[in-house]
Amino acid sequence: MSTIKATNITWHESHVERAERAKLLKQKGCTIWFTGLPSSGKSTTAFTLEHELIKRGFLAYALDGDNVRHGLNKNLGFSSEDREENIRRIGEVAKLFADAGLITMTSFISPYREDRDQARKIHDETGLKFIEVFVDTPIEVCEVRDPKGLYKKARDGELKGFTGVDDPYEAPLNPELTIDTKSQSPEQIAADILEYLMGNGFLSTTDKH
Ligand code: ADX
Repeated sequence: MSTIKATNITWHESHVERAERAKLLKQKGCTIWFTGLPSSGKSTTAFTLEHELIKRGFLAYALDGDNVRHGLNKNLGFSSEDREENIRRIGEVAKLFADAGLITMTSFISPYREDRDQARKIHDETGLKFIEVFVDTPIEVCEVRDPKGLYKKARDGELKGFTGVDDPYEAPLNPELTIDTKSQSPEQIAADILEYLMGNGFLSTTDKH
């Protein structure tokens, strides 16, 4: 748990309502939270969806685990405490982006159910939609892909505490969506999620152009 250190701080209300930003952007901000094993296809799916949304004139942004660990979270490693803090910060950042009106995507292993539930809770509390997407790729498939060679390193004992090998991954119990990257292309999956966003009123039309 992160401790609260700031005192003597006051919340200031913005003069702009979330609905005004939604009207301006012709979309409702939300967070699409991809979770799954390493190499399950989280980033590929998120970046494909981001591109599809932008092509159609919607404002979208993908926050990616490896990328965020180069900057905001570069002081965090892979202990359970650091993974928790990694996800806590991303939950807060995603919430801000979603509040700003963006279709926000996060692609982090986010291995612990409790941490994902906490990210969901802070969205729920402020009326923002949190869409958990389980990238349900079997470990055997992830391990064959292994684009960064990390499963091999973990199996060879050169990398300790690797998710799926010697560190746990807790699959979601009630995700809004479950995707299959084994038999579906990133484009097909992105199209399915677009349909979900459309069907649930997040996007004003199929194409803003
Ligand atoms: S999380 O567990 O805290 O959610 P995150 O998604 O940010 O992880 O980062 C995962 C990425 O870090 C992987 O794609 C991989 O490239 C790299 N990585 C390095 N060490 C580990 C490890 N021990 N376990 C998992 N991923 C690792």
